[in-house]
Amino acid sequence: MSTNTRTDNPNKALWEKGDFTRIAASMRDSGEALVATLGITPGLDVLDVGCGDGTTAVPEAQAGANVLGVDIARNLVAAGNARAESLGLSNLRFQEGDAMDLKELADDSFDLVVSIFGAMFAPRPFDVAKEVVRVARPGGRIVMGNWIPNDPTFVAQLLRVSMAYSPPPPEGFVSPMTWGVEENVVERFGAAGIAPEKITCERVMYVFETPSTPSEYLADFRDYYGPTMNAYAAAAADGREAELHAELQALVDEHNTAEGEGTRIEAAYLRVTVAV
Ligand SMILES: C[S@@+](CC[C@H](N)C(=O)[O-])C[C@H]1O[C@@H](n2cnc3c(N)ncnc32)[C@H](O)[C@@H]1O
Repeated sequence: MSTNTRTDNPNKALWEKGDFTRIAASMRDSGEALVATLGITPGLDVLDVGCGDGTTAVPEAQAGANVLGVDIARNLVAAGNARAESLGLSNLRFQEGDAMDLKELADDSFDLVVSIFGAMFAPRPFDVAKEVVRVARPGGRIVMGNWIPNDPTFVAQLLRVSMAYSPPPPEGFVSPMTWGVEENVVERFGAAGIAPEKITCERVMYVFETPSTPSEYLADFRDYYGPTMNAYAAAAADGREAELHAELQALVDEHNTAEGEGTRIEAAYLRVTVAV
């Protein structure tokens, strides 16, 4: 555990509990490839919400944008600022904040608001839509990457299995995966004043790649990725840890397409683009 922070906010606690940088290390190439499709030009003002340690924020800054990364997890903000410093990126900084209430940020501040597998994890999705629209400039864009519920590819299945072993969520809980359904996206941005024709959604592949073996990679999810850590803790309390581990090992093995050593796993996500 990389932080001693204590919090009553379960959304924050979930992400501060582990060390997402261990998983993010397997996302760098895909993060760069995704950013290359964003049409970033020097001087563009970019907000990256739920940015983690900068998988997309770093390449956005390397493309010349002025980038602010906002994340709810203090440890990931610190890791992002350390990366920016070590890379000499004075046009990139990270600060703590909540996608549902970006109160530190003024209206109409950013040309591009990006959130890749980030804001989808905030528990009040309508507040997220309202906030990202508020801070985007008229004429600007919002791009979200959201995992798709029940998709047969890896991440949706990992989260499905993890949830099956976790305690039932509190009443009124809205699954993060609901952001992966176009109707919900349109409804949420609609409530924030965006007309449906300004929203496009497409299913796109993302690749996780690591020199770790599939077993080592699964161990990273068990030991460092909040949602899976919680599932292992709940399974252990029920005496079902070995069962969960076997199920996830089978999942990782099934989805691993690396031809030699290491692990390579593809996962589909919904790419949402909103013209503000
Ligand atoms: C799966 S990670 C993705 C991180 C990064 N976007 C990437 O692609 O590597 C999810 C991130 O969302 C952040 N997050 C979760 N809920 C949030 C919220 N309400 N506001 C801001 N960030 C949040 C987590 O702390 C974590 O860094």
